[in-house]
Amino acid sequence: MKKAVLDILVCPNCLPEERELSAEVAEEKDHDILQGRLICGHCSMVFPIEDGLAFLDPGAFVGRAGGNRYETAPVVSSYLWSHYGDLMHDGEASDAYSRWAGLMEPLGGYCLDIGGAVGRFAFEMTSKSDFVIGIDNSTAFIRAARELMRHQRMEVPLAVEGLLTRDLTLELPEEWDMKKLEFIVGDALALPFKGGVFTSLASLNLVDKVPSPLKHLYEMNRVARAQKAAFLFSDPFSWSEEVAEQEEWLGGKGAGRFAGRGVDNIASILNGDGGVLTPPWSVKDRGHVWWKIRTHANHFELIRSCFVKAER
Ligand SMILES: C[S@@+](CC[C@H](N)C(=O)[O-])C[C@H]1O[C@@H](n2cnc3c(N)ncnc32)[C@H](O)[C@@H]1O
Repeated sequence: MKKAVLDILVCPNCLPEERELSAEVAEEKDHDILQGRLICGHCSMVFPIEDGLAFLDPGAFVGRAGGNRYETAPVVSSYLWSHYGDLMHDGEASDAYSRWAGLMEPLGGYCLDIGGAVGRFAFEMTSKSDFVIGIDNSTAFIRAARELMRHQRMEVPLAVEGLLTRDLTLELPEEWDMKKLEFIVGDALALPFKGGVFTSLASLNLVDKVPSPLKHLYEMNRVARAQKAAFLFSDPFSWSEEVAEQEEWLGGKGAGRFAGRGVDNIASILNGDGGVLTPPWSVKDRGHVWWKIRTHANHFELIRSCFVKAER
């Protein structure tokens, strides 16, 4: 983990109190901590840094994280195709991530991609921000994103059918600035950052994957700057009781709190209705992006991800 990130970290286990973490560095290279520990002086929780990967998800140490379905090699390969298929010159790839990044203005400051998986949006944002962090609770995704950051190239084994695979070469564009980027393992519901730090924030295809969608929005709002900030939200709203109880859904219900369509409720929450998020945001744009996931040569998922872009 790049040492620059230390400036904005807090203990995710002590939230809502923002307690500092101190770093014990066992091995570092070029301001990158390769082996070490981050320790909370208040709750004494220890967060390891191994092979450059910082593990800042407190749930992972106390059995709250549960089984993560994103940890297998086929799923990592699927997401690498989903994020970088266009850069691997696959004619069937989608342009979803460059479209999402295209919705963001260059505002400088810190950028946070929450639930950013294998990192495409974070890489794209290095041209628009001073420093970008991708955070995800999948170790396999963050490891892949970090490997790409370190080597700027990767051989990606793509499933063809059954046990058959073919390798595609992924090379990142030279203009993406790896010095302004970091990926860490952490929880969207307990972000390990000081409040009011981030200028640009994204939550892409995440809100229907967390047990408490509202807590995710509160956490996003806590770490966002109170002024001169932009937030890009996008989701297909595939609500599922396997992920969150119905009472927690922010849409997809006929009655009760957050009845109706999720995208309308998110826009209304951001616009300040009901005082859910303060200070309120102002919705500037709405629309959708077609996003594709590939399982094997003959199996693709086409997803309409509805976005809301807000500023304050
Ligand atoms: C449907 S994927 C979307 C990934 C990426 N944002 C994109 O649009 O391609 C959902 C992502 O959220 C991550 N995720 C799920 N629950 C999370 C949590 N509590 N904290 C952080 N990341 C989480 C998963 O590991 C996965 O990468």
